[in-house]
Amino acid sequence: MTQKIAILPGDGIGKEIVAEAVKVIEFLKADGVLDVELNEAPVGGAGYDADGEPLPAATLALCKESDAILLGAVGGPQYESLPREKRPEKGLLGLRSELELFSNLRPAILYPQLADASSLKPEIVSGLDIMIVRELTGGIYFGQPREITEKDGERYAYNTAGYKESEIERIGRSAFEIAMKRDKRVCSVDKANVLEVSELWREVMENVAKDYPEVELSHMYVDNAAMQLVKWPKQFDVMVTSNLFGDVLSDCAAMLTGSIGMLPSASLDSNGRGMYEPIHGSAPDIAGKGIANPLATILSISMMLRYSLNNEAVAQRIDDAVGKVLDQGLRTPDIMSEGCTEVGTAAMGDAVVEALKA
Ligand code: IPM
Ligand code: MG
Repeated sequence: MTQKIAILPGDGIGKEIVAEAVKVIEFLKADGVLDVELNEAPVGGAGYDADGEPLPAATLALCKESDAILLGAVGGPQYESLPREKRPEKGLLGLRSELELFSNLRPAILYPQLADASSLKPEIVSGLDIMIVRELTGGIYFGQPREITEKDGERYAYNTAGYKESEIERIGRSAFEIAMKRDKRVCSVDKANVLEVSELWREVMENVAKDYPEVELSHMYVDNAAMQLVKWPKQFDVMVTSNLFGDVLSDCAAMLTGSIGMLPSASLDSNGRGMYEPIHGSAPDIAGKGIANPLATILSISMMLRYSLNNEAVAQRIDDAVGKVLDQGLRTPDIMSEGCTEVGTAAMGDAVVEALKA
């Protein structure tokens, strides 16, 4: 049966890198190993430009009837002065909540070919393979009430950080399920020494852990987790945390690898439908120059095949092709190092397609 993929390039370098991922999909279709239909729609700033909304109704409808979504990136300086409701980020947050994509998987993997790219010493990061599981549809990002108001004669603003037990439980289960396929260790990150919401988080994680006796659960305060990530990141296997903490820690973990341009992510609902996107953003400073690294987006396709489209064999073929291209010494500027060959976005995409043929 033909599976439907919604293609949402978004803003900035989004269009360029998604075009390369589409090349890969089209090749695999022509090769007869993928039976998918692609439908493109605008989101973020592109949605606002096309329709006056960062998440146009037609885009949301398309995503709802698709088996998986590929997203480039959203955001750009030209949209920063818009009212909050119209900003590109709202499009992304809207997709996450409307589609109930509560489980955000953000791997931080160090490719052996790129060991020099990290700003940390090689012995600290070599072989690094962490999976951050970030809760994506709750917590302070979505909590009500929230506003900028007045109090005691001056302006006052507040947000609400809240989690229902069921929300904590389902992200906990996601993390434990993933840990079962890895090294069977989960570190739950919270701020239980200060926050009630973290106290409940910890208690629910302990309860979920009872269903996974093979998995070792530990807890860490978020400040310490940030420190430990930089100090000795290889101590972690799976980290599970709330929306805001996960936002911060996943950028930190991604940068340990020195090549944020290589890292894909998945945002999943409870049925395995998912949105796949590179971890890096829209990079307006290099947009349109043809130098952005398309590999994170191409690797997002392989995550999509694994988690939503049930096609491990082709996922592995893409991963291998990316490995081959790195072995050939091809590098976009963000991962360039001595002795390698610098290539642009399109040449990198073409090289992956060539490697897939071999
Ligand atoms: C991310 C981004 C988003 C977030 C922004 C663009 C709303 O930083 O996906 O990590 O904060 O979740
Ligand atoms: Mg972020």
